[in-house]
Amino acid sequence: MSDRLADIGWEEFRGLSPEAKSGYLSAPGLGGMPYHTLFAQQFDRLILERLAALANRIRFISKSREGALHLKGLLSHKRAMLYFSQPSSRTFLSHLAACQILGLTTGSVRDAATSSEFKGESKEDSIRTFSSYFDMIIMRSPEQGLAEKMAWELSNSSRPVPIINAGSGKDQHPTQALLDIYTLMRSFETKGGIDGRTVVFCGDLMRGRTVRSLSYLLTRFEGVRQVFVAPQELQVPADVVMVLAKKGVEFEVTDSLRDAVPGADAVYMTRIQDEWDESKGASAKIDTSRFKFGAKELALLKADAVIMHPLPRRDEIATCCDRDPRAMYWRQMRNGMWIRAALIAATFGLEREIAECGY
Ligand code: CP
Repeated sequence: MSDRLADIGWEEFRGLSPEAKSGYLSAPGLGGMPYHTLFAQQFDRLILERLAALANRIRFISKSREGALHLKGLLSHKRAMLYFSQPSSRTFLSHLAACQILGLTTGSVRDAATSSEFKGESKEDSIRTFSSYFDMIIMRSPEQGLAEKMAWELSNSSRPVPIINAGSGKDQHPTQALLDIYTLMRSFETKGGIDGRTVVFCGDLMRGRTVRSLSYLLTRFEGVRQVFVAPQELQVPADVVMVLAKKGVEFEVTDSLRDAVPGADAVYMTRIQDEWDESKGASAKIDTSRFKFGAKELALLKADAVIMHPLPRRDEIATCCDRDPRAMYWRQMRNGMWIRAALIAATFGLEREIAECGY
């Protein structure tokens, strides 16, 4: 299977907007599902709904031994490489578990110092090497744009294989946004859905790649209001605000979590991402004490609202919230495994087969 990236030069592709790039990232036969998954912009509402339906099917089928064995046979002839040159627990393990659900064999590099990059091999050559042995590459990198460069390189090589971006720099985390949307869909499934909801983002919005990706996906729904709560130094970046303004999405930028919580249908907390500090300890100088969710905020939250977090957390959600039925972050994390299984299945053209199988 080949995608349209082979039809365009790298410099021309690089200069396109994410929306325009998205047009090159599917392949004939996938019915609009992604071949390479690089940006949130690739997912319109219909694709999001199809992926959620597929995740629900996989989830249901896997409940029985027979169903689980059937799923395991679907991609037992394929291999996936997990190349994570940045730390990860959830994204790595949920992709790994998703591969196991579908029967893919996996390999991994979790530290470039253990690969031949240590001997001076370029990332491009490393990834080209992985494509010689594997049928899909799931990659996380601190380098913004590396996943799309690799997707272009592979699509223009003799062994094109799909890439899933599992987090790129401070830029994008599209599969996290998929699991966040899937969690919101499930949370509001019997309560009128996501349309018209208010989503409050809080914490380090400047450097949180999950925020950029989810904020974009929420624009695929009708009338979703977005509220950004952060200290001034860590407020949502201008490019996110520009997208919302251009799309006519209602949004608010504030530094008061207490004022924002009562109107929220979902509160999306994030950790201070001090690994990106340009000078050591810079984040510690910012007063983040008002950007934490605890018992007082819980008391202000609507009865049917949800608390989310991409995790890992530090102290931005107090552990006293964990047993509250509105705390969705553990279920959100598990949803990641199902939606990633759906994405991998769809990438290999299995959407219809799974939808129509007799389990
Ligand atoms: N949410 C997330 O990306 O978690 P990990 O860094 O543990 O993968």
